[in-house]
Amino acid sequence: MLSEQERSEIQAESQHYPNNRALCIEALKIVQQHRGWVSDEGIADVAEALGMTCVELESVATFYNMIFRKPVGKHVILLCDSVSCWIMGYERLREHLGVRLGIGLGETSADGCFTLLPNVCLGACDHAPAMMIGGNHYQDLDPARIDEILAKYQKEEREEEREPADGNTTDA
Ligand code: FES
Repeated sequence: MLSEQERSEIQAESQHYPNNRALCIEALKIVQQHRGWVSDEGIADVAEALGMTCVELESVATFYNMIFRKPVGKHVILLCDSVSCWIMGYERLREHLGVRLGIGLGETSADGCFTLLPNVCLGACDHAPAMMIGGNHYQDLDPARIDEILAKYQKEEREEEREPADGNTTDA
């Protein structure tokens, strides 16, 4: 069942779409935002809320590559493998990411922090090679730049992990 929050966000989005069929990608994205990925249960929840069948929703979800039908890491790295990026060093970057994270394409790092996925053109061909993490675009990449970017996310992770402990201090 959709949570109250999911339901109200989908309701708010519905004002921008002519019908539920047009709304369904946004609804799936909302569920994914809250649950990390879209399970069969998530598909069924959205289908029920929009009056669509699971099969209809499933076909949309599998067509649209930003809907994740399997669990993913906290940060999904979409590495462009289209022609400009390929020419400008895609394979070198894929190998570098693989070594740094200990994963191949389609896999999630052991710490659950990163999933690495190939992606079609990200629209930054004049600054290839490019990748996207969450909503952030990164371009003109090389291994050193990749290391900087990963380090930034890993630092944020460490800070987030420390936050509850820091915020939990009591006078003894
Ligand atoms: S080919 Fe990679 S951004 Fe266009």
